[in-house]
Amino acid sequence: MKKKFYITTPLYYVNASPHIGHAYTTIAADVLARWKRQSGADVVLLTGTDEHGSKIEQAAAAAGVSPLAYADGISAEFRELWAHLDVRFDDFIRTTEARHKERVQAAFRRLVASGDAYKGVYKGYYCVSDETYWTETEAPPDEKGRRLCPNADCRRELKLTEEESWFFRLSKYGPRLLEHYKANPSFLLPSQRAKEIENFVAEGLRDLAISRTKVSWGVPVPDDPGHVVYVWFDALLNYVTATGWLPEGDSGAFPELWPADVQLVGKEIYRFHTVIWPAMLMALGVEPPRSVFAHGWWTADGQKMSKSKGNFVDPREITREYGVDAFRYFLFREMPFGNDGDFSAEAMKRRYNAELANDLGNLVSRLTNMVDKYLNGDLPGKPDLAKSPITKAALDAAPAIAEAMDRLAFQDALNRIWAVVGGLNLAVDQRKPWVLAKTDMDALRTFLFDLVGALRVVAGWTTPFMPQTAAKIQMALGVRLAKGPLTAAEVLDGRIQKSPPLFPRK
Ligand code: ME8
Repeated sequence: MKKKFYITTPLYYVNASPHIGHAYTTIAADVLARWKRQSGADVVLLTGTDEHGSKIEQAAAAAGVSPLAYADGISAEFRELWAHLDVRFDDFIRTTEARHKERVQAAFRRLVASGDAYKGVYKGYYCVSDETYWTETEAPPDEKGRRLCPNADCRRELKLTEEESWFFRLSKYGPRLLEHYKANPSFLLPSQRAKEIENFVAEGLRDLAISRTKVSWGVPVPDDPGHVVYVWFDALLNYVTATGWLPEGDSGAFPELWPADVQLVGKEIYRFHTVIWPAMLMALGVEPPRSVFAHGWWTADGQKMSKSKGNFVDPREITREYGVDAFRYFLFREMPFGNDGDFSAEAMKRRYNAELANDLGNLVSRLTNMVDKYLNGDLPGKPDLAKSPITKAALDAAPAIAEAMDRLAFQDALNRIWAVVGGLNLAVDQRKPWVLAKTDMDALRTFLFDLVGALRVVAGWTTPFMPQTAAKIQMALGVRLAKGPLTAAEVLDGRIQKSPPLFPRK
């Protein structure tokens, strides 16, 4: 029985080190996971690495090591980066693991047995980099007679290839897919992406070649030596193999997890996840995921950042300069989740100084310093909302923020949170507590406690984006953290702690 909230990221290729594009999707998954956990859901977040196929075979050969040794190194880099970026994943799957390979073979057998996989000959123009076949019409010859990969980010020369291949009867599933899209409007997210997929499927689908003889680094096709499973067929299955699923019957954690609630992907792999993947599941007698959400690209000077282009930004460089939380914050404040945008070092610095150092950081240190100085750090208890108009106003913003978070409209949520922060700063400027300190101590206490209450609420909202900063703010404001009790010295002395600057100016 489905009990858990299951979130997945794509499995990243291990042909080169991770860059901010990968960090973006994975942190988004973590933000959503933290938000859902905070709202009481039992969340499972899956990520991992996609390790088969000729791209990885070639990268390993160039490095002079075995594909698995190569994959071991890069897969570990991804895992370490997620730890560094405070991504709390529950499972990390590698497609080279036995738990996955066995299940891919079992799935393949099942499709052969049901007649949804059959053997034929594939002839087409193949892009080694994208692991994709293109037809003559999709890749017409250019003026020099060459056929180039139609993927605008690739444009490498294609190779005419003919091979015996197993096919998946994708064509048969077009009508069921269309029905599924119609009956489940939240399957294709964000909804402005739905039309393109619906049109693509409505034009008619071709069967899909799901084995290769030209590639040796892959999961062997059962009972057919010389064939390995097509890397996408292999990789897509990870979302169920990681749960312990087997085609013979529900097993492992699968019944609690499936259908996945949100599968996050970049827009360039949306079709794989919204056409091929649900059709595979239908053929295997498994329900499609509840939603597949495609986000846009981070670009560098207008071009997609990618491993093959080498124009990517290294997340570690940014976090060295600004810290992990500022990086996490920036990714979701700078551009709407779903759109494309250019990553700019100036924008990072500007937002860091204006929104983190000034708006939030300054507010926290000003407030905690004032409580320390004027009230001797006295800790307010739970705020009395009748006497706390500022906290009450902040709480009024909660439903809209929650709604934005649930829609994965992270920028919208952050804009609303910062509008509240702006309101708190304005209140300080207008009420001038340093003047009240000389004239009306009661009013001062009420006012500062009200601000503390509101800022506690703000800290809760920022937790999914900036877990460390939020914890520091909560600690300074005497909030008991959900993650285990603090020591007596940390919180039970009944005092507000003066907070050092959270974001030193750059
Ligand atoms: O496609 N901007 O792996 P991959 C935003 N192995 N996100 C980006 C990005 C950018 N410039 N570049 C990459 C694969 N991403 C397959 C997936 S899933 C069963 C198999 C993110 O290493 C984004 O999520 O090329 C994109 O979809 C993913 O990394 C592609 O990673």
